[in-house]
Amino acid sequence: MSLVAFPFKDEDPEVLLKNVRIAASHPRVREVLCVGFAEDECFKAVRREAPAIQRKAGVRVVVLLQERLGDRRPGKGDGMNTALKYFLEETDLERIHFYDADILSFSEEWITKAEEGADQGYQVVRHYFPRASTDAMITWFITRTGFALLWPKSVLPWIEQPLGGELLLTRSLAERLLADERVRRQSDWGIDTLYTFAMVQHGASIYETYIGVGKLHKLYGKLTDLKTMLIECFAAVQSLKEEQVPEGGAHRIEYPGPVPQEVREKIGYDIEGSLALLSEGWTPRQEELLACLPRKVWEGMLACRSFPRFGFMDEEVWYLTYQALLEHFSSQDEDWRELLFRLWLARTLQYTMSEALRGYDHALHYLHQMVGRYVRRAITR
Ligand code: DGY
Repeated sequence: MSLVAFPFKDEDPEVLLKNVRIAASHPRVREVLCVGFAEDECFKAVRREAPAIQRKAGVRVVVLLQERLGDRRPGKGDGMNTALKYFLEETDLERIHFYDADILSFSEEWITKAEEGADQGYQVVRHYFPRASTDAMITWFITRTGFALLWPKSVLPWIEQPLGGELLLTRSLAERLLADERVRRQSDWGIDTLYTFAMVQHGASIYETYIGVGKLHKLYGKLTDLKTMLIECFAAVQSLKEEQVPEGGAHRIEYPGPVPQEVREKIGYDIEGSLALLSEGWTPRQEELLACLPRKVWEGMLACRSFPRFGFMDEEVWYLTYQALLEHFSSQDEDWRELLFRLWLARTLQYTMSEALRGYDHALHYLHQMVGRYVRRAITR
């Protein structure tokens, strides 16, 4: 029997409550846990409704504020780790599921498919779903790229959605994750990277289950919306760069189905608004930091100060840039943070204009092949 956890922060309470009701009425679920970031309106609404849902479904519905467990910015990591701690200390249930609180397309099937994967003996079941060709830009250019460069022989680069917040863990794996100091410390957006990394390093068997309806949730405006997430996700990969990970490992991916037209046509971010960000806010120090990067990059980025440019940031140049960032980037340094953001922006725009523009199938094929090329290159380096 399982616990379903929804970490949340200032969400639409109706969406979250609908998802809580779905989870509470699933036959495999004994308890639903909502972990809020702060005592905001959403938190109060969920706490108010929880007793009625509990009475109707006959399972416990608990609403908690997240604890301060880590030492990075207090964020999603503390929320997920609070849920893990509750699961291990307050229940004796066998499995924990995590779902993001804002999923509009959440249904019973998400829970059933995860349970079916675990019934086959997998210690982790991760949900993956179709995403727009210009969504998931941190996943592709930061996380999967970093995993390919650093641990090319492991399963890490092949995990479809390493930043996904929808997953099931067995109790024994949850114990190992919470006992891992690196995981506990990661209170910010880096938590998904740490969970994914730690489960592979601990040798867990992983099944990725495909959810064809996709995760309908709000997309982003200008890419600045993703700045903090981007920086924290890169810093998380960088913090692990000296670690060793076993080669191979048990990892199966359910074959995907047709991609809904809505996802194929969706534009993931505001391209015009993001373009201007390449030219804005340069400081003399950021210009100096460019010296750590390949020549093409510093020439291209310096030119951005008068007019946005990105054509130079192709797959090859991004590989070299990423290597240099792994060595030199400092997440405590505001100029480095700005520069990382602009470099990633250039990569994202270059990909958008030269690959995503050619259509959905081309773009997704390109991204998967890109990871494969990085893996081969890192292995033969
Ligand atoms: C990602 O890259 O996966 C983030 O969720 C932003 O889309």
